[in-house]
Amino acid sequence: MENTDLERPIFRFKMPVVGTMRLGQWGEKFSTQLYLDFIKACLDLGITDFDHADIYGHYTTESEFGSALKLVPSLRTKMRLITKCGIKMVSPNRPDHRIKSYDSSAEHIKMSVDNSLKNLNTDYIDLLLIHRPDLLMDAQEIADCFSALKLSGKVRYFGVSNFTPSQFELLDSLFPMVTNQVEASPLHLNPFHDGCFDQCQMLGIQAMIWSPFAGRELFQESSNENVVRIKTTAEGLCTKYDCSLDQLVLAWLSQHPSRPVPVLGTSKIERIEKAIKAQSILLTREDWYILYTAATGIELA
Ligand SMILES: NC(=O)c1ccc[n+]([C@@H]2O[C@H](COP(=O)([O-])OP(=O)(O)OC[C@H]3O[C@@H](n4cnc5c(N)ncnc54)[C@H](OP(=O)(O)O)[C@@H]3O)[C@@H](O)[C@H]2O)c1
Repeated sequence: MENTDLERPIFRFKMPVVGTMRLGQWGEKFSTQLYLDFIKACLDLGITDFDHADIYGHYTTESEFGSALKLVPSLRTKMRLITKCGIKMVSPNRPDHRIKSYDSSAEHIKMSVDNSLKNLNTDYIDLLLIHRPDLLMDAQEIADCFSALKLSGKVRYFGVSNFTPSQFELLDSLFPMVTNQVEASPLHLNPFHDGCFDQCQMLGIQAMIWSPFAGRELFQESSNENVVRIKTTAEGLCTKYDCSLDQLVLAWLSQHPSRPVPVLGTSKIERIEKAIKAQSILLTREDWYILYTAATGIELA
């Protein structure tokens, strides 16, 4: 199929994104009512973007979230639903998967989208991401599949996750991507160095940052010398900017000129509220580098 839609659409994030990975069976085990309360509270705060994946909760979180949406269908128009596909996980809910593998074939993507639509109780997905780079990915096949999904109205925007800049460029050359969702935190600096954030700045797109607090490692008692150094350094900066560690880290990550957006992993509304407030913190360049140097443990050249 000829792709006639090569112009990159504009997809911006004004607020942090709320991740759903830990809300269900992989974490808080929310009831339908708790999902509903949580969704409503997020929307009240101005959060509109919810990040899913087919696999979360061993393939159950999308449908739990969708059950909450079914109770108040009008909420759907107030939010953007992001989901991912392409990981085939070994799970009691997928007995035919013998080993963890990646599948970005058109057949798998289309099947996964249809499942996500059904589970989330919606007739469109706002943003679909290929979850991880499939070594066997056929970029033209994916681009054609994305074109067909867009034409059908099932998916509005497309992106990837955990792609290297060259993998991103390959797919992006055939179908315009709006984001690359990557891991970043003071304990995981790769996107600052591997060209991912440079690429985003060049293309005028925003990366999405998963595990901005390294999956809570930054808040736990730790003997890891990186964690200790980061926390000790952060204390002084938190006093100076009158903020908490989570707010400092979010402000520090988002200050990259490509304006990456954090995907929050918390289940606590008060922490989401604090994350929104952190958007107004602007570190001086020197303070930014103070935290960066604590993160690397190495003085700049
Ligand atoms: N694309 C990918 O490959 C990929 C991979 C992993 C995750 N993700 C996405 O990214 C989202 C976030 O990832 P993540 O959950 O690892 O993020 P994270 O924010 O680094 O970690 C979340 C954990 O930290 C705790 N936490 C958050 N703020 C805290 C604070 N101020 N004090 C103490 N504990 C705090 C949370 O507990 P509380 O609930 O108690 O706050 C939760 O257990 C996921 O939901 C998912 O949507 C994507």
